[in-house]
Amino acid sequence: MRILAIESTCDETACAIVDDARIVRSNVVASSSELHAVYKGVVPEIASRAHIENILPVVREAIDQAKTNFDEVDAIAIAHRPGLIGSLIVGLTAAKTLAWSLGKPLIGVDHVAAHLYSVQLSRLAAELAPPVSLPAIGLVCSGGHTAIYLVHDWHDIQLLGKTIDDAVGEAYDKVGALLNLSYPGGPVIDKLAQQGDPTAIKFPRASLGKESLNFSFSGLKSSVINTVHNARQKGDDINPYDLAASFQASVVEVLVHKTLRAAKEKNIKQLLLAGGVAANRGLREALSAKMALELPEVEVVIPPLSLCGDNAAMIGAAAYTEYQQKHFAGHDLNAHPGLVLGE
Ligand code: KG4
Ligand code: ZN
Repeated sequence: MRILAIESTCDETACAIVDDARIVRSNVVASSSELHAVYKGVVPEIASRAHIENILPVVREAIDQAKTNFDEVDAIAIAHRPGLIGSLIVGLTAAKTLAWSLGKPLIGVDHVAAHLYSVQLSRLAAELAPPVSLPAIGLVCSGGHTAIYLVHDWHDIQLLGKTIDDAVGEAYDKVGALLNLSYPGGPVIDKLAQQGDPTAIKFPRASLGKESLNFSFSGLKSSVINTVHNARQKGDDINPYDLAASFQASVVEVLVHKTLRAAKEKNIKQLLLAGGVAANRGLREALSAKMALELPEVEVVIPPLSLCGDNAAMIGAAAYTEYQQKHFAGHDLNAHPGLVLGE
């Protein structure tokens, strides 16, 4: 079962060839990140135009790297939600055109579900690792999403909590812009934080009530902005290492605390961490350490860095379960920008 998958939800134009949700024959990603760097954030129109330029070469490259051809492909998968509407439409149009002209089935995939499924792909791709044990709690954190899910099975994913304002990656990138760091700010702040004192500045932790599994990062972001502006007005030096470490400590503490609470409330076997911010060293280490201490029977599973950021291999792998259930989309499949998984 060979799937050609396309991902274009944000600023990565990606195409992958995946066999049976376990063999990644190619996984090509062209990012327009450099074009957005000057604006310190993704500019939707620029992202859409970059997708238009990149989509055909990226599909060609994925086919060539996989040493296959269109005839050998069994289905076309596309991440059709959620994301930037102009970006989604480019990938969706390419996928529909391929499906129609080749006479192959079309499969619509939810981008956030695919981030969760990237953990399963990492297990299936490693020959000796057993598949993910369900039910599992999944924390997805990226530039556009921050949410906790209860994965009953891959077709039954329940939303337990989500951000009510900024996504965690967005908060990282905004703090990065404030500090004039290179874009995207997330990986740079993560690096700076390794050398800073996390207790240097006490930033707020938003709990949103004892029972809530929702997140809020806008108060933290404002607090960082105020701290930096106050220091600049007074002519005080800001230690970027301490600021990064203190900011990251606040983010990580809230993410770990709520995820751990969800894991304790539900009878689960594994805890999955996915999305671009799953690459964060502080988060990976803190989540694994806290779980080992408080819930040692629950295994923490995090995919390799190549599957954390946006990629099409996770779309192709997630599409396989849809293919098995014959969940095919019509050629009227539309793009949906909002977060809909589990809502
Ligand atoms: O999943 P992703 O590639 O795209 C979206 O679906 O949004 O995530 C991109 C986000 C960016 O905000 C980037 O700054 C953040 O992931 N990111 C990180 C790290 N690596 C990437 N944030 C914190 N620490 C990192 N090491
Ligand atoms: Zn993503």
